[in-house]
Amino acid sequence: MQYQESVLATIGNTPLIKLSRIGKPISATVFGKVECYNPGQSAKDRIALHMVEQAEKRGELKPGATIVEATSGNTGYSLAMIASLKGYGCVLTVTSKASQEKLALLRSMGAEVVVCPADAEPDDPQSYYQKALQLSKEIPNAFYIKQNFNMDNSGAHYHTTGPEIWEQTGGKITHYVCCAGTGGTLSGTAQYLKEKNPNIKIIAVDAYGSVLAKYWQTGVFDKSEIYSYKIEGLGKTIIPDNVNFDVIDEFVKVTDKNSALRTRELALKEGLLVGYSSGAAMECVFKIRRQLRPQDVVVVLFPDHGTRYLGKVYNDEWMKQHGFLDDELPEDVSSNEPSYRKQIKRIYQAYKRKYGKYLKQTLKI
Ligand SMILES: Cc1ncc(COP(=O)(O)O)c(C=O)c1O
Repeated sequence: MQYQESVLATIGNTPLIKLSRIGKPISATVFGKVECYNPGQSAKDRIALHMVEQAEKRGELKPGATIVEATSGNTGYSLAMIASLKGYGCVLTVTSKASQEKLALLRSMGAEVVVCPADAEPDDPQSYYQKALQLSKEIPNAFYIKQNFNMDNSGAHYHTTGPEIWEQTGGKITHYVCCAGTGGTLSGTAQYLKEKNPNIKIIAVDAYGSVLAKYWQTGVFDKSEIYSYKIEGLGKTIIPDNVNFDVIDEFVKVTDKNSALRTRELALKEGLLVGYSSGAAMECVFKIRRQLRPQDVVVVLFPDHGTRYLGKVYNDEWMKQHGFLDDELPEDVSSNEPSYRKQIKRIYQAYKRKYGKYLKQTLKI
């Protein structure tokens, strides 16, 4: 008989898929590490299992306990799945930014969901972090996972994602491109890869509206960097312990619009129905493409599945509402090379500057 003991045994060992169509304009070979092949359809299965099992080993998570976490969705789903299989309760606080589909998914696994305002500051009692803390104190025998500060988060990727990528590329990987949220996926994998080959470039992806890239550049936590944005899971308004800033070679910011268009492009060109942050990571590959050489091997991590965004990036109405379909080509914000439309405008303005005076005089005559 060939079977798995439970879905937990199917976590990890996700495929590496060559991106030959979307990657055509890029001189290097580009592979996607596609995490939606996990049973919970995201990379968060790996960390949820590791954080729970490590807490069990240390005796912090006791039989009959309730797992509490502040999560934008994916970690919550994975925790709820694992909690139900292992016989724990699960209470999750989420921000109002999470899609309705995500909330339904959490509830489908038996989790109790508490929705908190997305614009509440992290130290505001209304924020999803503070609410989770409060609940973990109120609920008897509760265990607060704290994925941002729980080092078993990056540990999971150090022990699984890193070795998988190293093996799958036969050690040929030269660039690892990964979204930064809690930092676990990025830092754990990067730590393993750098130990294998310190020359591998680690490229972190951040959202406009998040504090991480500026903190990496300057060491300053700049509150003025914070504003609301659309991409879920990417970026932070706090500095999580799981972001290991020392392993990062470059931080690249991406826009909501370009990330949304890249997400749709991944589905259309590669048949990969992946999530919004996957499009953000792909957009990052485009932004760094001028530094890539033909012999380079780029691995870009796609954190979750696209079904969770059917009402957002895969919905034309939502895209139009946000002005993301005005000009369907992602703007090349990376380069100094202006887009076709900008070039025409520049030529027109230069022409007007040079010859406008004569034109006016001619018309007067
Ligand atoms: C969809 C999605 N993308 C990216 C991330 C960022 O991953 P990490 O928290 O490991 O940095 C998350 C984390 O919540 C996520 O849910």
